[in-house]
This record gives sequence, structure tokens and C-alpha cells, in this order.
Amino acid sequence: MSNALQNLHDLEPSLEEFRAAVLEGLAGAQKTLPCKFFYDAEGSRLFERICELPEYYPTRTESRILRDHAGDIADLAGPAVRLVELGSGAGVKIRLLLHALEDPAAYIPVDISRRHLLAAASGLARDFPDLVIAPVCADYTQPFSLPADAPSGRTLGFFPGSTIGNFMPVEAERFLTGLHDLLGPGSAMVVGVDLRKDGAVLERAYDDAAGVTAAFNLNILRRINRELGGRFDLDGFTHEARWNDLDSRIEMHLVSRRDQIVPIGGERITFGAGETIHTENSYKYTVEAFTALAAQAGYASRAVWTDAGNLFSVHMLEAV
Ligand code: TRP
Repeated sequence: MSNALQNLHDLEPSLEEFRAAVLEGLAGAQKTLPCKFFYDAEGSRLFERICELPEYYPTRTESRILRDHAGDIADLAGPAVRLVELGSGAGVKIRLLLHALEDPAAYIPVDISRRHLLAAASGLARDFPDLVIAPVCADYTQPFSLPADAPSGRTLGFFPGSTIGNFMPVEAERFLTGLHDLLGPGSAMVVGVDLRKDGAVLERAYDDAAGVTAAFNLNILRRINRELGGRFDLDGFTHEARWNDLDSRIEMHLVSRRDQIVPIGGERITFGAGETIHTENSYKYTVEAFTALAAQAGYASRAVWTDAGNLFSVHMLEAV
């Protein structure tokens, strides 16, 4: 095992935070659940399967853009950057950058799922034995810190997968402003942003024929059952993906199939037939709209790359 893999900097959300967020989300008029809790071990596994689905174009399209432009990213980033990845998941896309960058000083993967993070970090330590890897388990939607012993230097942030689209635009701007403060002026960001397109294409991408996305969405109920003593009947809810053109977002819902009462711990949650839990938004941007949002957060656009079909964009931003 490589000694370049540093100890985990562990800020994983507690069970108590999960319980409070679930009960608060289910108490409102429109019930919601925060999408960050999708990613337990099973959710992370299902998400990797989503990324390989024929209907789910973002992963392969973004990877292609990154493969085609890794050299450009490396040139713009310069040598010896420390690379901070938000939501590192399985660690596939980062390899494209690590191969291209000149002598990266360190790789700091940040992910909410501790198990997933450690598995990906040790896989990378095997493939890049000289690279300093300093994993951070944290919910990056909340303020977090980088490990005190991580190498310093010019930072390149990496936020792929159009995860930025899972924030509401005002939250996305706030999030980028927070990163600007954390990573400092002169730092750069590579952000993957899914583009606006035909609603039918989007609805298929979020409701695949094999039912993997449905299983992923429903898995959050299973997690509540397991970790919080919930009594959700998974057959009592169906997955739905809706394109909301006005707000330029795909919405994912879990629709109650009947009137039902679901105990969670000591609480009882009432559902009417057809009532939904809104579990996620995935906002879709034009290149211009995202560039303007980033500018509000203090980031200037250095380059934007898209695929031939104009499905997806990768933005290279610099903190000014
Ligand atoms: N960032 C991804 C996206 O918005 C997350 C995602 C993809 C996702 N497919 C999903 C989340 C299905 C929930 C369900 O595209």
C-alpha cells in the first residue's frame, strides 16, 4: 500500500443530521428529501449503473469532452496544482485529468460516502503511487475545511457530472462563492454542466427503460427504513421524472400510489394518493446562462468545451 495515501479527514454527516433533514423535508406542504442522502453504499452502486445506461448521455458525453480536452485543461492549469474533486464517486473521470496534468502536487477527493471514497482513493493510490492523496469525507454543500497537512499551492477544483445542476441556481451561485473563498484567488475550476435540450430526451435520461433510476430514487426510502426505523412500503411509491421547462429543470419525484400513513421512528407521515416527495432537481443551462452565474460568484470563463451534439458542456473557470 502506498504511503502517499494520507489519513481520512472525516466530516461525514451523522445519523442525527439525516433524521432531522428527513423529518423536516417530509413536514412541508410539498414533501422533499435532500438528494445528497441518495448516496449510501447501495445508492452509490446504483448511480454507477445509471452512468452506463444508454439513455443517460451525460457521463459518456462529459468523459469524451474531458478526454478530448485534458491537454488544454492541463495547459491552462499549469504545473504542480493540487486537485480538489467535489463528489469524487468512483474516481473514473479524475484519471483523465491526472494523466494529463503536469506533476500534480496532491489529489484531494471530497465525498459524502465514506466507503466509496476510501475504495476509490485506494484504487487511485495503486495506479498513481507517487501522488499524494488526501481524502476528505464531507457534505460539501455545508462549509468544510481541507486537511491541514495537505500540500498547499495553486488549486484546481473539479466538479463534474453536472452535479452543479442539482442546486437551485441561487444555491449554485452561493456554492461557487464558497469555493472561491475556500480555494482562493487564482484558483481554477473545471465544472461539468448539462445543457438545455428537448424535454423528451431529458425525461428518458432520468427514467430509463431498465428501471435503474427508479430503483435509485426508491432506494432513499429503503435507507430511511434501515437507518431511521422507517416503515415505507417500496411498492407504495413510483418513480417519476418531469421536465419543468419554465424552471429549466428535470424534477424527480416519488409518487404515492394510495392514501397511506408511514411511521418513521416515533413520527407518522401521511400521504394522499398521487402526492409526491420531490427528491431532486437537475437544472439544465445554456452556456451563456452558466457563464453568467459563475461570473456572479467571482469566476471568469477561461474556456468552454461542448460535444458535437451540444448535449453537455465543460467550463474552465478562474477565480478573479
Ligand atoms: N448530477 C446528476 C444529474 O443531475 C445526478 C443524477 C443523475 C441523478 N441521474 C440521476 C440523481 C438520477 C438522481 C437520480 O444528472
